[in-house]
Amino acid sequence: MKFFIDTANLAQIKEANELGILDGVTTNPSLMAKEGIKGEDNIIQHYKDICELVDGDISAEVLSTDYASMVEEGKKLAAIHPNIVVKVPMIKDGIKAIKWFTDNGIKTNCTLVFSAGQAILAAKAGATYVSPFIGRIDDSGWEGSELIGQIANIYSIQGFKTEILAASIRNANHIIKCAELGADVCTCPLDSILGLLKHPLTDIGLAKFLEDAKKM
Ligand code: E4P
Repeated sequence: MKFFIDTANLAQIKEANELGILDGVTTNPSLMAKEGIKGEDNIIQHYKDICELVDGDISAEVLSTDYASMVEEGKKLAAIHPNIVVKVPMIKDGIKAIKWFTDNGIKTNCTLVFSAGQAILAAKAGATYVSPFIGRIDDSGWEGSELIGQIANIYSIQGFKTEILAASIRNANHIIKCAELGADVCTCPLDSILGLLKHPLTDIGLAKFLEDAKKM
């Protein structure tokens, strides 16, 4: 399973990349706004900065919602760097735009996916990635990880090549569940990635080893 970091914060991207386990980055308009990135030039420069930090797929989301504008915007985003993946919302025009990008050799990430039906449409349009939002489904009182298993099963039966990019990850357990259920990629906040490191028995064991090492 590939690891992406889900942030537009350059320091966090750098920290995750330095672990040596990072395969890419996802951003969205909320994450870009959180970093205070405003205006077309600054947005483009920020994506360039991310591409310089990480050698892997970098999702950049279109802001328009009609087919023609999404195609124009996506072309501009894709021209920033070969690693840019155009992130497109799961709406009717979005599916049409994904098909256009697929036919024109531009990688896509179909975002805001909450059902298996939506994931089938994204795969039919040739999306490179499909992003089911696990945490937001959990927040609504359903079991988000079940969707990962369902999509993985359907894609396997149907031979779809679209990669399942588990998104809206809230904790380390989400990452483990997504790995178990067949996600190809997990995009995670830095805290969730670092959460995988933690176990109290590791801390207790290391403290004892260090104490005993003084007697060596
Ligand atoms: C990633 O591509 C998504 O935009 C992101 O994971 C959404 O996460 P959230 O539900 O924490 O906003």
